[in-house]
Amino acid sequence: MIFCKSPKEIEILRKSNQVVALVLKELKKNCQPGITTLELDQLADRLINKNHCIPAFKGYRNYPASLCISVNEEIVHGIPGERKLKNGDIVSLDIGVKLDGLYGDAAITVPVGKIDPESQKLLQVTEEALYKGIEKAHAGNRLSDISHAIQTWVEKHHFSVVRDFVGHGIGKNLHEEPQIPNFGKPGFGPRLREGMVLALEPMVNVGTYAVRILRDGWTAVTADGSRSAHFEHSVAITNNGPLILSEL
Ligand code: MF3
Ligand code: CO
Repeated sequence: MIFCKSPKEIEILRKSNQVVALVLKELKKNCQPGITTLELDQLADRLINKNHCIPAFKGYRNYPASLCISVNEEIVHGIPGERKLKNGDIVSLDIGVKLDGLYGDAAITVPVGKIDPESQKLLQVTEEALYKGIEKAHAGNRLSDISHAIQTWVEKHHFSVVRDFVGHGIGKNLHEEPQIPNFGKPGFGPRLREGMVLALEPMVNVGTYAVRILRDGWTAVTADGSRSAHFEHSVAITNNGPLILSEL
């Protein structure tokens, strides 16, 4: 069952997602050579608390941190630790928060220092793919119109779309129906309606879309070791078109 949110709920979802956006902006500034991923997690935690929110990932299915931080060939769900960021790395920062019982969730992938041209292209195409999906988030469209738009943009640029993880509805739960694959034929799935709130999150690999999970039970990496990027926004469907809740 897909829950539609009231205007009041959407206003709170906007607030929780604005905190997510603010924290991501601050984390991005701090993604410099030498900082550890644990230091970034601690910064995220401080900022989330300072903004009167609760970290949503910590404790979710026993996930141990507030931040998911995934470097280079890591796709999503990387766990913060002693690893130091290096010049040339690309870093996916993904955070979720809860405010007044309603969740915010978004992710960006950022460069550390100077990155190679292919990585630059990967970040650009992945973010553009997210916006191609958002453009289809109109009342009356079908869910898979979003999926198809994302896949088409990514494959046009000769990258691949991860199949093993999907976007999701968001609201009183971090993950709600519907699941939103980042690939598929257009014209399928539920019709989008005013009040639905969707977290769209394409994950894009330079090489093949095959995934492997590390021994920590969380970190998803590309099977072929190629680099991967991830961008996510939480978006409300309104009768005036998509409203990106997690954009500052
Ligand atoms: N943003 C991701 C998602 O929406 C990460 C959540 S996994 C967690 O699925 F365990 F870290 F919470
Ligand atoms: Co998400």
